[in-house]
Amino acid sequence: MKFKFYFRKSSFKKDLKSAYILLSEIEKHRPVNFLEVGVYQGVTSRNVCEKLQEIHSNKFHFTGIDIFENTNKSLDNKEMTSKHNRLSNPLKHIIFNLILKKDLNSMDSVQDLLTKFKLNIKLLKGLSEDQLPNISLEKIDFVFLDGGHSYETVKKDLKLIISKLKKNKIIICDDYDQVNYGVKKAVDEYKEKVTNIINLNERLVKIVT
Ligand SMILES: C[S@@+](CC[C@H](N)C(=O)[O-])C[C@H]1O[C@@H](n2cnc3c(N)ncnc32)[C@H](O)[C@@H]1O
Repeated sequence: MKFKFYFRKSSFKKDLKSAYILLSEIEKHRPVNFLEVGVYQGVTSRNVCEKLQEIHSNKFHFTGIDIFENTNKSLDNKEMTSKHNRLSNPLKHIIFNLILKKDLNSMDSVQDLLTKFKLNIKLLKGLSEDQLPNISLEKIDFVFLDGGHSYETVKKDLKLIISKLKKNKIIICDDYDQVNYGVKKAVDEYKEKVTNIINLNERLVKIVT
């Protein structure tokens, strides 16, 4: 399956190898219940749903959490998630931002992108620390953790997730290699407490609960 961008922003654009590593891990573990923390414009969500449909037909469930359009500069700076709507392609900027006035970060817009899977998805708007307790985490098979990237947030998210997931479930964390982020420190604290932690490449790390 080809990883597609749907005219939206994604950090996988400059790193397709990591995008395909994520898809191949999904192929390998065949999760039925998938959780993405940090959906942004929904590019990975859509590709993950396409992959899950390829594997399970319509028998899968995808949950996505994000603050979506309710964001502010200080939170974005703290979590190392700079978000803006300016599209690098000037024509797309005119069409989406000026004519259609479509906020690609909004929950409505991501819902539109995922409309093909409307019976399989649930999007939750809010901070991960507020939304994770609303999910039946004990049913989740696979998490892509890519929301807030500060040490405090990753630590809190991992604590909530790891305490509820069953044994031998998968969590893939993005940006493990970013020295100014808190992902590595928070993940490494679990080294003795989980079944395994595996570097898939520099950027992606896999935790087996
Ligand atoms: C790097 S982007 C996610 C990219 C997305 N996974 C993809 O592959 O396209 C990080 C997202 O996390 C969201 N975010 C940051 N801190 C958050 C928090 N504490 N709770 C929920 N979402 C958060 C931001 O709004 C942003 O959309």
